[in-house]
Amino acid sequence: MKRTIDDLAVFGGPAAFLNTVTVGRPSMGDRERFESRMAWVLNNEWLTNSGPLVSEFETAVAEIAGVRHCVATSNATVGLQLAMHAAGVRGEVIMPAMTFAATPHAASWIGLEPVFCDVDPVTGLIDPDDVKRRITERTGAVVGVHLWGQVAPVEELDRLAHDHGLVMLYDAAHALGCTRDDRPAGSFGDAEVFSFHATKVVTSFEGGALVTDDAALAARARSMHNFGLGQGGRVEHVGTNAKMSEASAAMGLTSLDAFAEVCEHNRRNHELYAEELRGVKGLRLHELDLEERSNYQYVIVSVDPAHTGIDRDEIIRVLAAEQVVAKPYFSPPCHLMEPYRTETPQRIESAEWLAAQVVALPTGPGVSAEDIRRICDVLRLVVADGEHVARRLTAARNAPS
Ligand SMILES: Cc1ncc(COP(=O)(O)O)c(C=O)c1O
Repeated sequence: MKRTIDDLAVFGGPAAFLNTVTVGRPSMGDRERFESRMAWVLNNEWLTNSGPLVSEFETAVAEIAGVRHCVATSNATVGLQLAMHAAGVRGEVIMPAMTFAATPHAASWIGLEPVFCDVDPVTGLIDPDDVKRRITERTGAVVGVHLWGQVAPVEELDRLAHDHGLVMLYDAAHALGCTRDDRPAGSFGDAEVFSFHATKVVTSFEGGALVTDDAALAARARSMHNFGLGQGGRVEHVGTNAKMSEASAAMGLTSLDAFAEVCEHNRRNHELYAEELRGVKGLRLHELDLEERSNYQYVIVSVDPAHTGIDRDEIIRVLAAEQVVAKPYFSPPCHLMEPYRTETPQRIESAEWLAAQVVALPTGPGVSAEDIRRICDVLRLVVADGEHVARRLTAARNAPS
């Protein structure tokens, strides 16, 4: 245990961890099950094109989302594009600035125009009032984002989209297994898209899924994700190749087998972080609504430098020296990234404020209670004398090498 700031690894003390503890380590499930699924794939030589494992994965994801249709994709970015294409979106697409670059890029890449709106300063979720202010005659759709294992304010957004005749889609990359008023993410709007990227709570290496209750939209998306081929194998319209492979589905199913256990482990981790950080000045653990279900995949802490004396990026630096990889989320927010910042220079207040403050801390099945206690020991030590730590970091940076 570190007693003084001289014990911090960034100032020459031993690192708190021998092996790196990082945000977003994959939850792969049982290795033998994966290997036996892969053996089956290889023995049958059915590697892609609507294979049985992809079908099984689609059925399982649709069930979690509480919808009738699921189209598994090679990733969520292309899944969002399919959703926009299949829903016939044109013109401007309103979305929160506080999201991963994939959300606006998905729209830009297919000729649509992202329009960024603000978020709630506490939850980070898209602000429906700001969406409303940004609707014009050119608006074609709204893409809500279910951030950090919380579901966006879907009642207001779905109503708004309905009243203005807009397509309503959700980027549900963070939200598998999460609910709002007991209804699962995946069941809102015209369609939603999950990600099964390696960092997500369920992984298929790379992967995504479009889920919807709209049979016609699902059929268009299914055809479009396979080069625009129709039932009879003839090309009916322009499409792309966004299919999930059987190897990905084998990983997805194996990761899904462990999903409930991983969520429970994450929930306990979240609780422990809350206990360890309770009352620590300037650090606020982002709370989740206990009435709802979450995958607890994101442990988000806001750093208020007015109280810690040290900012978020310096804390990330201190943790990195201890072999703890913590991540800013999403910094900068999308409207301050190229090309959007040059195309439409603007300020989006709460998104900017949050993006400068929040950090994600490690969780997941590979992160134990002891790991969390050690990470929090370091955090408490740093913010107890934050100004001093910050001054020494600045001096170390400016010292001649
Ligand atoms: C909010 C959000 N949307 C979309 C994506 C893109 O997902 P994928 O990597 O599966 O394309 C990600 C993450 O990686 C994300 O965090």
